[in-house]
Parts: sequence; structure tokens; C-alpha cells
Amino acid sequence: MKRLVKVSSVFIILTGFFIFWMSSTALADEPPPSRQDILRGARLYDNWFAALDVAPPPGDMPIWSRQSTNTRSGPDTWRCSECHGWDYGGAGGAYASGSHTTGFPDVLRLSTDLQMRDIVAHLQGANDPGHDFSAYLDESSMLQLAAFLKYGAIDDALYIDPLSLQVIAADLERGRALYLSTCRRCHGEDGRSILFRSEGIDEYLGSLANRDPWRFLHRTRFGVAGTDMPIGYDLNWTAEDGRDVLAFAQSLPTGGEIAVSEDYQPVDSTQGEAPAGPADDVLSGILTGIAAFTGAVGYAVLFIGGFLLLGFLVVLLLGRRK
Ligand code: HEC
Ligand code: HEC
Repeated sequence: MKRLVKVSSVFIILTGFFIFWMSSTALADEPPPSRQDILRGARLYDNWFAALDVAPPPGDMPIWSRQSTNTRSGPDTWRCSECHGWDYGGAGGAYASGSHTTGFPDVLRLSTDLQMRDIVAHLQGANDPGHDFSAYLDESSMLQLAAFLKYGAIDDALYIDPLSLQVIAADLERGRALYLSTCRRCHGEDGRSILFRSEGIDEYLGSLANRDPWRFLHRTRFGVAGTDMPIGYDLNWTAEDGRDVLAFAQSLPTGGEIAVSEDYQPVDSTQGEAPAGPADDVLSGILTGIAAFTGAVGYAVLFIGGFLLLGFLVVLLLGRRK
């Protein structure tokens, strides 16, 4: 009988350690962010004061004065996108040269080594008081920004040639089909139905795609604050779908007279309306399921461990009674 008690005690102690270890690792791992949070974060990254529908802070962002190569001033200096780039690569990416150059860092690379809570701390000024956004952004917005940088940002260097700014290895036909089915109804067959006023110039989709393909991709994936357009993220587009649409947009006229659209065979606008077919939906459903599962595993183990412990306590008590 004594032996049973000894064996049970050892087992209980081991189970206890196991549960403790599991719970500490479960707590150390951050739960994966939701798709909605990543999307919010992407929009905040573009222009947080437009996304939150608040007035931009007055004057220049404090860190702005640490550089003199980018001569913009005012609200733009407060946008993550202005300092860290539409490709998130900062001085290591598209803003390594040109009028947007600031020398500020590549947050795509930096974020891979940071936990979301580290990024939030940075946005609260933990390492650099000049980088403190806590007067303007609440913690949930900061978490969404962190979620986007860590889990939502795509490395566009894979798709855009840094010298020609043209898309690498695109499937133009696919891009054309996606454009005509999803974008044409607003931007027009030749991309000239909506005129953008940006950087002090008027431009169309074709000119934007050629001048700033990174911005085109970010906004095609995640949208523009205050604009209700179908976006790649909601349509479950892959990075390659975005790339192909960009390639097609780069072939659209960039100015001058509206081109006669013989090039483009009008297609049935209902065809391909949902580029993410059932197969994609099932796949993304499975992926979401897996993510949720790994998140739940830690808790499941805690439960099972708890039951085991309870079981052995009962065995121990019953053993003692005899
Ligand atoms: C005025 C320019 C500017 C703006 C606006 C700006 N940053 Fe930064 N950011 C910097 C500079 C400079 C650094 C590096 C020096 C430092 O840590 O402050 C940095 C560093 C970072 C880092 C790296 C942190 C680390 O630990 O290495 C992250 C992440 C980051 N910024 C995210 C953001 C996000 C998200 C926004 C938008 C809310 C933003 N930044 C807005 C200039 C800016
Ligand atoms: C429901 C109408 C609608 C549809 C459909 C639509 N857009 Fe837009 N898009 C807009 C509006 C409105 C704007 C904002 C115009 C402005 O900023 O003044 C915009 C802006 C953009 C911008 C940002 C331009 C900038 O200033 O940076 C890009 C890029 C863009 N659209 C690409 C696309 C692509 C690619 C598609 C197809 C996948 C698409 N849009 C489908 C209405 C639409």
C-alpha cells in the first residue's frame, strides 16, 4: 500500500510540474491575431488619423526633425507609411532614395524578431520617447498595428523590380481578368474613371501603378480609409493575385486622352466576381481552424492535465482509506 502512495505522489508531482510548464509556455505565446485586427492594422499603418476619423496632431512628428532629406511637413509626418514606406522597408526599401527618403528603419524585418507586445511598447515610447503615440492611439489600435506588421505585411521585394518598378514574372491575363471583374466597375476599363489627387498631382490608376507600385499593392490589398471598395484581403486574394492586378494596372494608360479600349475584351462582369472560389474558402477555413486549434491546444492540455491530477488524487485518497 505504501508503495502505491509513493508512486502516486511522484506521479502527482510530475504532473504538477508538467501543468506548470505547459501553462507558462501557453501564456508566453501570444494568441494569433484575427484577420479583422490585421486589416485594421494595415489601415492604421496607411493613415491612422484617417482610419480613426480624428484630426491629425498639430505640427510635425517629433522624430521628423532627425532627418532633412524628406521635406514634407505636417500630417504626413505622423503616418507610419511616410516614415517606414509602403513596402515597410524604410531606408532598406523603396524609400532608400527619392523625395521620401528619411533613413528610418525597415519595420518589415525588425518586426519578425519582435513580439507584438514589443511593438506596442515601442509605440508607447518605451525605447524612444520620440516614438510615443499613446496620446493618439489606444492599446487595441497599437495591437492591430503590431498584428499587421508581424502577420499581415507582405514582402513586395519579391514582386517588384526595384529599378524598373515593373512587376516581376506576372500573369498578365490573370491580372486582366481580376481587374475587369472586380475593379472596372469603379475605376473604368482603362483605369481613368476615378481621378486621384496625391502628392500634389492628379493621376489615374495606371499612373499610380507605375509611379508607386508599393502603395498600389498596399491599398489594393487593404483599401483606403473612408473608401468602400472590394479589397484583396476580403476576397482572399493571394500575394500573386495582387501582383497580377498590379501588372495589368501598369499596362493601363497613364495620362493624355482616354484610350479607346480595343485592347480589352469586355468580359461578363459577373464572371469571376468572387475570385476566391469555394476551394479557397475551404482552404482558408482549414487554415483558420488550424490557427485556432494551436491556440486552443495549450488550454486543452491544461484541462487534460487537471483531470489527470484529479484522478490521481482520488486514487491516492482511496488508497489511504484501506
Ligand atoms: C516620423 C517618423 C516615424 C513615424 C511617423 C513612425 N515611425 Fe516607427 N520608427 C521611426 C524611427 C526613426 C525608428 C527607429 C528609432 C526609434 O526606435 O525610435 C522607428 C522604429 C520603429 C519600429 C522598430 C522598433 C524596434 O524595436 O526596433 C517599429 C515596429 C515602428 N517604428 C513602427 C511604427 C508604426 C506602427 C508607426 C505608425 C503608428 C510608426 N512607426 C511611425 C520613425 C517613425
Ligand atoms: C466600389 C468602387 C471601387 C471598386 C470596385 C474599386 N475601387 Fe479602388 N478606389 C475607389 C475609390 C472611391 C478610391 C479612392 C479615390 C480617392 O482617394 O479619391 C479608390 C482608390 C484606389 C486606390 C488608391 C489610390 C491612391 O490614391 O493611392 C487603389 C490602388 C485602388 N483603388 C485600386 C483598386 C483595385 C486594384 C480594384 C479592384 C481590385 C479597385 N480599386 C476596386 C473605388 C473603387
